[in-house]
Amino acid sequence: MRATDPRASGATSSPLLGAARPPALRAVIAGTGGYLPERSLTNDELAAWKGLETSDAWIVERTGIRRRHIAAEGETASDMAAKAALAALAQAGAEVGEVDAVIVATATPDSAFPSTAARVQGRLGIGKGFAFDLAAACTGFVYALGVADALIRSGQARGALVIGTEIYSRILDWTDRGTCVLFGDGAGAVFLRAVPEAEAGGRGLLSTHLHADGRFGDILNVDGGAGSTGGTGVVRMAGREVFRHAVAKLSSAVDEALAANGLGHDDVAWLVPHQANIRIIEAMGKKLGLGLDRVVVTVDRHANTSAASIPLALAEAARDGRIKPGDLVLMEAIGGGLTWGAALARF
Ligand code: COA
Repeated sequence: MRATDPRASGATSSPLLGAARPPALRAVIAGTGGYLPERSLTNDELAAWKGLETSDAWIVERTGIRRRHIAAEGETASDMAAKAALAALAQAGAEVGEVDAVIVATATPDSAFPSTAARVQGRLGIGKGFAFDLAAACTGFVYALGVADALIRSGQARGALVIGTEIYSRILDWTDRGTCVLFGDGAGAVFLRAVPEAEAGGRGLLSTHLHADGRFGDILNVDGGAGSTGGTGVVRMAGREVFRHAVAKLSSAVDEALAANGLGHDDVAWLVPHQANIRIIEAMGKKLGLGLDRVVVTVDRHANTSAASIPLALAEAARDGRIKPGDLVLMEAIGGGLTWGAALARF
């Protein structure tokens, strides 16, 4: 979504109407936060499972994954989301009273309704604004950023929690070595604050670029679920096919994002990609001319946490000082749908 709001021109008054216009607004990433369940499951532990027939060497070589976190029994996506959200608010120095929109990207909601976002809102004691879930699988966080950016630019929200939270451990076939080794649980959040463009100093979301092609829905899907008349409710994936789409679609999305802002590869301080597979991440870094020292990588320790992977990576790199104020951060993701997209933000 590009800013199409005429106020983005910076005009503050209309010579025709004579009325004062509100200033153009930017969605500034004021804080980031992450949460990972305590239990960490290593490849060696999986390799020891009878009948799974996998190995640490195979998983590391094909994916870069060494371990993943697994939610505790009774722990839910909203529990994890609330923890990540509170961490993001704390880092932003924001009170919960500043939040008037909660958007949760998830494929593993606590229930069909109330939405996970409404549950988070309730848990944080927020009784105003609006809250909803968004389903775009592993691209969910990029989609949610796009929606939040549009809501902020159009004046419908002033403080937005954008959260990715996933418990894939509950929708995996733990006897299918082709999928169960790839995913993990966790949550990540950002707090976006509406800041008048004139005061933002170039900070904030520059643009988001969202895509889907539903004709490829079958290559990565959850077979069954709420409202379904059949299926088993677990992730099914044609890994090779997904891989084939990934680099081409992600490449075109990042090119689109940079071109839309008149920026080049050299302007990017950090690539924060969706963390599905180190080979896809390396290919994207190479395409952008960025070494792995300028790419935030968590896939080795988190595996693929779907919609949570980018905000978890952002939180890690913002906290340890890699991402600094003023840095241009490029995010990209692809997932079931197929969905894919990119977002550019200046921290
Ligand atoms: N351990 C050991 N062997 C495994 C295995 C595992 N965990 N998973 C699959 N294999 C085997 C297969 O059974 C197959 O064996 P065969 O040759 O005897 O039939 C062999 O390894 C090759 O399988 P294939 O699926 O072709 O491997 P691959 O090189 O394509 O790697 C993925 C598999 C899943 C790692 C890879 O396709 C991938 O990363 N795809 C993208 C997935 C992705 O990013 N999804 C999320 C997007 S949001």
